[in-house]
Amino acid sequence: MKYQAIIFDLDGVICHTDRYHYLAWKEVADEIGVSFTEEINNRLRGVSRKESLEILLEPYQGELTAEAKDYYLEKKNNRYRGLLENMTPGDVDPQVKKALDCIKERGMRVAVASSSKNAPLILEKIGLRDYFAVVVHGGDVSRAKPDPEVFVTAGVRLDVRPEDCLVVEDAKAGVEAALAAGMDCAGVGDAAEAPGVTYRLCEVADILAVL
Ligand code: BG6
Ligand code: MG
Repeated sequence: MKYQAIIFDLDGVICHTDRYHYLAWKEVADEIGVSFTEEINNRLRGVSRKESLEILLEPYQGELTAEAKDYYLEKKNNRYRGLLENMTPGDVDPQVKKALDCIKERGMRVAVASSSKNAPLILEKIGLRDYFAVVVHGGDVSRAKPDPEVFVTAGVRLDVRPEDCLVVEDAKAGVEAALAAGMDCAGVGDAAEAPGVTYRLCEVADILAVL
């Protein structure tokens, strides 16, 4: 077997939360009075909540206090968590679920490494809380992707060497982080075009072909 472990990003790989992020950030942007589009929302993939707010504030003429930023971050997260309540196991693409089952049958170790502090809630809602041997999320690390910390931590907790881990990512920041952790990386969507990506996938289920 080429790899002993697979480390999945969550948002955009196992399930899709873009729409909920968009709706929650849009409310914040409207309150601040800046424009917020789907294109801007796409730039937030893989980016931490704090950095996302900085991107949203790019067109803002002025300076927000640290307290005001905290208020908007909390507002966004409360709204986002409310929207996540709509998620169910039906939000996992059946092909992805099939691929996950196949990977388990092969005896590989499987982890999630996500920038999101809400990853445990999302996994609970989509019925995959117990599927992964290791879950590393935004609350477990001090540096967000593209820093490798989240993947390095997952590798250590899996007790698998970086060169024996394969990461699956949908964001360029995630590919950069995986490669910096010394791991191979399979990219879908935008991440398939990221510099240095090891495998370009059309969809997540194609991962089975590279194992
Ligand atoms: C990533 C998403 O998984 O988590 C980003 O791709 C998001 O869009 C980031 O900003 C942080 O998420 P959260 O849930 O901690 O605000
Ligand atoms: Mg992602």
